[in-house]
Formats: sequence, structure tokens, C-alpha cells
Amino acid sequence: KNEINIGLLGFGVVGSGVAKILQNHQDDLRHKLGVPVVIKKVLVKDLHKKRETILSSEIFTNDLNEVLGDPSIDLIVEVIGGTSEAKKAIESSLRAGKGVVTANKDVMAVSGLELLKLADENKCDLFYEASVGGGIPLIRTLEDGLASDRISALTGIVNGTTNFILTKMKHDKMTYEDALAEATALGFAEADPSADVDGIDAARKMVILASLSFSTEVLLEDVFVRGMKEIKEGDLELAEQFGYTVKLAGSAKKDEEGIEVAVEPVLFPNSHPLASVNNEFNAVYIYGDAVGETMFYGPGAGSLPTATSVTGDIVAACRNLLLGVNGKRLHAPQYARKVKSDSK
Ligand code: NDP
Ligand code: HSE
Repeated sequence: KNEINIGLLGFGVVGSGVAKILQNHQDDLRHKLGVPVVIKKVLVKDLHKKRETILSSEIFTNDLNEVLGDPSIDLIVEVIGGTSEAKKAIESSLRAGKGVVTANKDVMAVSGLELLKLADENKCDLFYEASVGGGIPLIRTLEDGLASDRISALTGIVNGTTNFILTKMKHDKMTYEDALAEATALGFAEADPSADVDGIDAARKMVILASLSFSTEVLLEDVFVRGMKEIKEGDLELAEQFGYTVKLAGSAKKDEEGIEVAVEPVLFPNSHPLASVNNEFNAVYIYGDAVGETMFYGPGAGSLPTATSVTGDIVAACRNLLLGVNGKRLHAPQYARKVKSDSK
């Protein structure tokens, strides 16, 4: 192959960040991969929207078939978001024999295993690092770095929007509404921000992390979820008087009784490291039998941090394509399921 061609589905906060990184880091990527990575087509909803980009307007389309039908496209990057359209696009891409990189936790939390299986059947890669923790490499950490350990618990802040809102309410005395408006303007919030504030986005991410950590299928409906809507400015001040900070936190643990996953507002003493994770930043503690306690911290939302994870996946998928080993890797939960069914 002389180059790897990408079909980019979505050119919003994340998609435009992906285009920027592929452009600004093109020499580094060419050096690392030996071939250039080129965006061949971009799918958007509104072709008439004004966009600041150096990409030619001619490569923009609103027809998915035009992207999937282009035989020169090797890899699809799904960053349109939502559930049904995005899931269909991922399925069609895999069925067309094209590997997929996605940032979509809505889809991966509910249909992840099914899609990983479809990818396997079609000998394609499906990577989803950006679906949890924005720019923090958590998925690969669980799939590879900590693969030998027995993970007993995870806890952390996995939603940037709510953390941004709580930070602004506490430190800048902003109202909830103004802080949410700013998080939306900065591109942190979901298209429907109730997913953020009601804790659903964090629940989806905890499902993905817990499934990987415990090598089992955790269902979204089994997660106990309480969002941040009931938290009022006065509550934050009261907590502060007693030396605590309120965060919307996710937790997952596995013991003899089973697996428990929750998302809810939690009071952390100000001396706790999670109390000082501010703005859109995320942090996740992972407790392993052998490794002990590890903490991962970084930007949990936003254009370039999230696009860094997406383009990291693009690099991984390109390497596999260039080596001819694409689709050969079984991802952790899918592998666990295969072993279970094989040993029946
Ligand atoms: P945006 O809303 O900013 O962008 C969505 C893009 O997809 C737009 O370009 C839009 O087109 C296009 N699009 C939407 N629906 C369709 C459709 N039916 N057909 C064709 N194109 C469509 O979303 P984000 O970039 O913020 O998010 C993308 C994904 O990344 C989501 O899954 C999100 O959860 C995830 N994510 C986002 C993060 C963030 O910080 N924003 C962080 C981590 C993950 P048009 O431009 O014409 O409107
Ligand atoms: N809306 C999400 C958040 C984007 O605020 O964390 C990153 O997944």
C-alpha cells in the first residue's frame, strides 16, 4: 500500500480535530507508518454548513454509500455520534470489509460485543479508545497493560461536562445553566446534554470499563445511576464548609457477591486526589490484585484530546492493515466470551 485512505463520518468537534491532527502531524505519522494517511471522504449532515478546514469541499458528502462504496477507502472513522445511525454506519462499514475507529460510547456500551463479533467475522478491526476518558488511554490500558491482573474495583470521574459544571459552580460561583452553556460552547457536552447531567454518559463509560476490567458483559440497565441535577449551589458550599468536594463519580467493583456498577454524586474529602480533578478533566483509579492502585488522569473531553485517542486508533489500525493482520485481534471481552463458549 502506498497510502491509507480514511472515510471520516462526522466533522464536528471530534471529526474536525481528527482532520487537524492528521494534517498537523502528517510528517510524524508518515515517519511512523511509512505511508501517508489521507482523508478521502467526509460524511456530514448539512453540506451547506460553513466549515473552517483546509480539506477540499469536494470530498464532503451527505451520502454514506458514497463513502462506503469507495474501494480506495481502507478505514472508517465514525464520529457522528448518536445510536441508530451510527450503529448502522459501523455495521455497514464492517460488512463492506472496512475497519472502524469510533468514539461512540452510546453504541459501544450497548452493542459493543455484537459489533466486535461482526468485526471479527468480517476480518476487520474495531477500535474505540476515545469512547472513554477523552484523551486518556484507558481501553488499551485495560486490554493490554493490566491484562494479567485481577481487577477488583474502579472509581473515578468519567464525564468532562459535569466535572466542568461542578468546578465552575464551586470555584467561579457560576450558575448551573451558565456552566452548562459554557461546556456546550467548548464542545464537551453531548448533542443532548441530558446524557451528561443525568449520568447516562458516565454510566455508558462505566459499562465499557467494567466489561473490560472484569472480562464480562455488564449491562447498562444494571448500572445504578443518579445524575447531578439535584445538586444545588448551596450544597457545594455546605460540602466545602466541611472540607469536601462534590463530584459526579463512577464506581465498579467485583467481589464474591457479584459486580456492582454505579454513577452518582459523591463527596470527596478535599485531600483526596479526585477532589482536585477540575474542569473537563477525568481521572480513574484502577485497583488490581497485583499492581495495587493506579490512577489515570487527563482531559476527558474536547476536540484535540479526544481526536488524539481517535488518531491513536487510526495509527493502530493502519499498522495492522500494513502488516496484513487487521481483524486478527480478539478484543478482551469478546475473547472472554469466545473462551467461555468454546469450553462449554
Ligand atoms: P458533533 O455534534 O460536534 O459532530 C457530529 C458530526 O456528525 C457533525 O459533523 C454532523 O454533521 C455529523 N452528523 C451527525 N449526524 C449525522 C448523520 N445522520 N449523517 C451524517 N452526518 C451526521 O459531535 P462530537 O464531535 O462532539 O461527537 C462525536 C462523537 O464523539 C460522539 O459519539 C460523542 O459522544 C463522541 N465523543 C465526543 C467527545 C467530545 O468531547 N465532544 C469526547 C469523546 C467522545 P454536520 O456538521 O453537518 O452537523
Ligand atoms: N460529553 C462527554 C463528556 C464527552 O463530557 O465527558 C466525552 O466523552
